[in-house]
Amino acid sequence: MSKRKPVSRSGRFSGGPGDDVVAYTESISFDQRLWRHDIQGSIAHATMLQSIGVLTKKELTAIKRGLSAIAKDIETGVFEWNPDYEDVHMNIEAELTKREPAGAKLHTARSRNDQVALDTRMWLRDEIVDTIAELRLLQSALVNSAADNASVLVPGYTHLQRGQPVYFAHHLLAYVEMVDRDISRLQDCFERVNICPLGSGALAGSTIEIDRGLVARQLGFVDAKGKPRITQNSMDAVSDRDYIVEFCAAAALIAAHYSRLSEDLILWSSAEFNFVRLGDAYTTGSSLMPQKKNPDIAELARGKTGRIYGNLTCLLTTIKGLPMTYNRDLQEDKEPLFDTADTIRATTRLLASMLPTMTVNPEACANAVGDPLLLATDLADYLVNQGMPFREAHDVVGSLVALSEKSGVAINQLSDSELQSVSKLLTPAARSVFDLKRAMKKRKMVGSPGSTQVSKQVGRWRKALQSLTEASR
Ligand code: ARG
Repeated sequence: MSKRKPVSRSGRFSGGPGDDVVAYTESISFDQRLWRHDIQGSIAHATMLQSIGVLTKKELTAIKRGLSAIAKDIETGVFEWNPDYEDVHMNIEAELTKREPAGAKLHTARSRNDQVALDTRMWLRDEIVDTIAELRLLQSALVNSAADNASVLVPGYTHLQRGQPVYFAHHLLAYVEMVDRDISRLQDCFERVNICPLGSGALAGSTIEIDRGLVARQLGFVDAKGKPRITQNSMDAVSDRDYIVEFCAAAALIAAHYSRLSEDLILWSSAEFNFVRLGDAYTTGSSLMPQKKNPDIAELARGKTGRIYGNLTCLLTTIKGLPMTYNRDLQEDKEPLFDTADTIRATTRLLASMLPTMTVNPEACANAVGDPLLLATDLADYLVNQGMPFREAHDVVGSLVALSEKSGVAINQLSDSELQSVSKLLTPAARSVFDLKRAMKKRKMVGSPGSTQVSKQVGRWRKALQSLTEASR
């Protein structure tokens, strides 16, 4: 048995926990990454304690000095994290008190429960801001590729069967829209993360009346008017992990979108499609088959969706049925949160850097989109414009497709008499629908993949992303 006596067991405890207990309960191995926010939070708390007379000016100076020195040691890697002190909060506080006796006053009217909520909220706030900036870069990469390949047409698919022609750009811009919704979900999540819990104590606040607004203001927990945003119920504040679940749920949708994009890239780069080639740096060879060029990055981006979904399920399960208020179970929130944030950010960055290496094979795309059957719907629309009810037109074109299949003659090559045999409205003029350029001009509505619309959308996104980048500078 170890003789250690961590600070959380001071006073009423006589013996220390064994090594196995320490190893099982410590979180310092993973929550040390909260150190910057822990120190920032402590400085704000100490500043507030001085303002209400709990600390003298000298004591505040000593605490700030101690915390800055600790920050430097952590930054340079000389700080020794000690699992006996369980977590980042106690490691820093214990070391501070060793260096500056005034540190013993820092925990006045504060508990680790509200401290961990504070640190996680501050950490996540920064993480959301950085994630959004990276998502914008991914949007730009998609828009650039759309613009670079503005004239390329490909079949649009449903059921993975060729449906109708679309611009390659239109397909890529679909992902720009998805990422945009992902960003707005993160912005929305930010609103609920950005609320200061400090002052909730262990669960029931404190009899020492602290200035919660001052702490919140120092740490940037404010609304657009600069008014502090603070939690309104101490019991909720120390046990709420909704904001973490929300972030991980938003991340799960991001992962779903990445998985779909990756799947498209994987399909497109197969010999069967041959629409695109990914840069060598983002593919690997096979240890056995010398000809292979595998899209591993896209496959991993697709594969990592599993762990992102898993982390969300893990969190939801952890909080289910927890009695009020803080329970140690909640320490299990950090690893899934960190893993989700790290995985999403790494995937975002890699997709954004891989896309510019993607080259499009215009011949293969033209060949695929040259299939006249892709314009069968246009022919039905033509008949509608000649006065035929759509259902009937659908049937007529269906018969024409069957005739073409049976005779082995492409639908746009059938003879005048063959056309006439199916419908009197199918005069030679009907063949004009098979002019792909003309067909793309006719798709004019907002949201359509027509030539004018797609170039408008590329322009709109270019402008929007440019002004967003300028605004963030
Ligand atoms: N390491 C803990 C966690 O991450 C901090 C809060 C500990 N509180 C407690 N009462 N044991 O949840």
